Amino acid sequence: MSSETITITDNRTGATYELPVQYSTIRAGDLRKIKVTPDEFGMMTYDPGYDNTASCKSRITFIDGDKGILEYRGYPIEQLAEKSSFLEVAYLLIYGELPTKAQLATWEFEVMHHTFLHENMTDLFRAFRYDAHPMGMLISALAFMSTLHKEAGQVEDAAVRQKQVFRLLGKLPTVAAFAYRTRIGRPFNYPRSELGYAENFLYMLDYMQQSNYQVNPVLAKALDVLFILHADHEQNASTSVMRSIGSAHADPYSAMAGAAAALFGPRHGGANEAVIKMLTEIADAKQVPTYVERVKKGEFRLMGFGHRVYKNYDPRAKIIKKIAYDVFGVTGTNPLIDVAVALEEVALNDEYFIARKLYPNVDFYSGIIYQAMRFPPDMFTVLFTLGRAPGWLAQWLEMITDPEQKIARPRQVYLGHDTRDYVPMEMRG
Ligand code: SDX
Repeated sequence: MSSETITITDNRTGATYELPVQYSTIRAGDLRKIKVTPDEFGMMTYDPGYDNTASCKSRITFIDGDKGILEYRGYPIEQLAEKSSFLEVAYLLIYGELPTKAQLATWEFEVMHHTFLHENMTDLFRAFRYDAHPMGMLISALAFMSTLHKEAGQVEDAAVRQKQVFRLLGKLPTVAAFAYRTRIGRPFNYPRSELGYAENFLYMLDYMQQSNYQVNPVLAKALDVLFILHADHEQNASTSVMRSIGSAHADPYSAMAGAAAALFGPRHGGANEAVIKMLTEIADAKQVPTYVERVKKGEFRLMGFGHRVYKNYDPRAKIIKKIAYDVFGVTGTNPLIDVAVALEEVALNDEYFIARKLYPNVDFYSGIIYQAMRFPPDMFTVLFTLGRAPGWLAQWLEMITDPEQKIARPRQVYLGHDTRDYVPMEMRG
């Protein structure tokens, strides 16, 4: 009996099966040999939400949920947030190593020279109603971009993949800014390639023909770090969608439209917008204990708390909490921070949350910063999207070039009707 195996005894038949173990996993396909009768399909695993299923082998991001550790290509998030830049982290995620000075300069040039949108897209933004959610506009714009770059479907061509990476990272901030300007009824500011990534984004959002306009460097730096913190997070829901759509060899614009749609959900990236609504509803730190009691009764969930993987404090939340005060130094404080801090204090000392290992996650404090920077809440998930884009692309590239990967097609446990005959209308009901 090899040491790198497990033995399963099927008590229904008495048969035993020795299955190989690799990376503390068994291949689900190996379970198919476990049958009661030869004509059976064979055993599968049942794992709603894929709570305990590895869908791929990856070398991009490592999370230790119990210890609250997050590393991109082995580099701790705390060090990258302090010492790196968003475009450098994007390079690291996609290519696997920190760039040399020359590599970074070329990378920044390519991304910042792929920032303009096809002029037809300005018509797309004008087609939306005045109150269209910016995430709806962003998702539509990504699908629109797939119609512009028809070669993007040649996903097995490395040069074609590379070009779409430049375009998506370069154009997404422009899409986000155009969506914002559409919402506030202001003319579009076209991108400026000589500015930094976050600086150019803030310029496109805010410039109103002021003669002496300058992007505030503290706010640009804060946004750059926030993008770093959101850049990747292994196989979260939206990344799994990016990989799943990509596994069908759809183009990366269509895949990213799907990923952004998944991120939009309030249980995922839409939580930062939901946190602000929750904190605004609580309004006063004195109301926190009453609100927490309602959460414990199951009336609703504490938005920005809990995580499928982190059963400790989300390391990103710690860093974001510190950034908040840097931003407040420019914008003035956001009174909701006092409600958030009081809520965290109560929750972290309450048995309900302790027993369920519910800690603040990345979304708990990010919205407070965005609101202090005068972003409307429905732009928060758009900001999450800008941060997560390089992670989605890195994971997509890893999937496309992984010889073990094939089209994502899970199985099911069928509990529906047995075969039955069609019922004529006159015999129904
Ligand atoms: C992100 O996956 C990622 O990496 C995501 C992300 C990324 O970077 O991509 O980190 C970004 O999506 C962060 C999460 C943002 N979402 C929220 O803040 C929404 C609120 N949080 C939850 O809905 C929830 O915590 C999830 C969805 C994040 C995780 O849910 P799980 O792992 O499926 O946990 P669960 O639903 O099985 O809950 C376990 C228990 C349940 O209680 P019991 O039924 O056992 O009594 O914990 C409770 C839940 O009711 N619970 C909460 C809670 N989250 C879980 N109770 C109150 N408030 C909460 N927030």
